Amino acid sequence: MTDQTATSSSDGQSLTVRDNRTGQDYELPIVDGTIRGSDLAKIKAGDDGPALAVFDPGFINTASCRSAITYIDGDQGVLEYRGYPIEQLAEKSNYLEVAYLLVHGELPNKEQSDTWVHEITYHTFVHENVKTFMQGFRYDAHPMGMLLASVGALSTFYPESSNITDAGNRHMQIVRLIAKMPTLGAWAFRHAQGKPYVYPDNDLGYAANFLAMLFRMSEQRFEADERLIRALEVLFILHADHEQNCSTNAVRSVGSSQVDPYSAMTAGIAALYGPLHGGANEAVLRMLRRIGSIDKVPEFIEGVKAGKERLMGFGHRVYKNYDPRAKIIKQAAEDVFAVTGVNPLLKIAVELEKIALEDEYFVKRRLYPNVDFYSGLIYEALSFPPEMFTVLFAIPRTSGWLAQWLELVDDSDQKIARPKQIYTGPRKLDYVSCQERGG
Ligand SMILES: CC(C)(COP(=O)(O)OP(=O)(O)OC[C@H]1O[C@@H](n2cnc3c(N)ncnc32)[C@H](O)[C@@H]1OP(=O)(O)O)[C@@H](O)C(=O)NCCC(=O)NCCS
Repeated sequence: MTDQTATSSSDGQSLTVRDNRTGQDYELPIVDGTIRGSDLAKIKAGDDGPALAVFDPGFINTASCRSAITYIDGDQGVLEYRGYPIEQLAEKSNYLEVAYLLVHGELPNKEQSDTWVHEITYHTFVHENVKTFMQGFRYDAHPMGMLLASVGALSTFYPESSNITDAGNRHMQIVRLIAKMPTLGAWAFRHAQGKPYVYPDNDLGYAANFLAMLFRMSEQRFEADERLIRALEVLFILHADHEQNCSTNAVRSVGSSQVDPYSAMTAGIAALYGPLHGGANEAVLRMLRRIGSIDKVPEFIEGVKAGKERLMGFGHRVYKNYDPRAKIIKQAAEDVFAVTGVNPLLKIAVELEKIALEDEYFVKRRLYPNVDFYSGLIYEALSFPPEMFTVLFAIPRTSGWLAQWLELVDDSDQKIARPKQIYTGPRKLDYVSCQERGG
């Protein structure tokens, strides 16, 4: 492997700032292309004045950590896990190996791989009380709500998980979480369908076992088509990490309180539950259904250009080029449709993509298909209802969240997350009793 470290400290580089309130100049060191918030805080209008701060809702231009896990170059459309291009991992690796890579920082050798796969497989079962607990949900409970609550509940089954300073203990919880997520996700799915929960089959691989827990009925063994298993593995690999996105930031923020990893992962699941994060592929399906047929595509595109609506599954905050995951997913879609038959909405999607990629409106704004443009079509072809789409995201993202959590716990730079605010409310009011307030 070639060692091309993404960032390095920039010795001697600095930024000179003049505070026009005082006429004073400050020299702020630039390290890794950033200035330190704490250096800005040295700038004050007077000795007792408030420290200068940055107002940055949504952390648009604020680095919250150093990380060696995932590298993204949005302009070039590059995504790498621990330095390995996503294209190579999707083609040659499998989900559990990628999970190992994310968590441990290196690909496993044969022995490490065997141990890791054995550990994860061995821990797929959950305590019977978890099953009873899940059965208590309403018949129509959203599977993400069930997943969220169940992962949070796991911390009560493993109280030792709060000892996050012990490396062996941390490893145990990481294994448990990666192992049990498919079980919990599948049971949430079965619950909504009123079907009995299916126990893990530890003779099957990670994705194959998940499919069996989802779809097995009376047969002794559920054997999914190998091409579908592989497509799911690829989707899991593509969704395993994406650096400091909303849910990862939630995991890190909650994890910074030094809570146990189950509780920190629950924060990630909660963030993913939101439509701005995990729900875009469902919106793509709704859009394709609304368009209805290929001949309506030009009219729809005109509507988008007139600002009446958005082309869902296009555009990305970071990628200003073809999302590298979208290319791989398009191939996976073809593989899945070879087994399930073509989803009629695919033709509309392909036509939309073709027109949009040639149209000046989209070209000028650098709007390209993102990961969600084709993933919903695949999930639908695999018989998943839209409520399950986000669960299918949460399961593989668990390894990324855990890798980020581990990095946080080991990072001496990290402190409890506590942003500043700009206070805009009243001050120094005098309390008046309720009787005197009238009304
Ligand atoms: C992902 C997304 C939220 C990124 O937003 P952003 O980085 O804040 O980009 P902006 O909203 O500032 O968009 C920049 C310009 O492109 C346009 N644009 C962005 N996404 C667009 C889309 N999907 N369809 C049509 N126009 C779009 C905006 O209208 C804006 O045009 P303007 O400069 O004329 O005002 C946005 O592209 C979007 O809503 N996409 C559709 C939803 C989606 O697929 N989400 C999944 C993301 S993985």
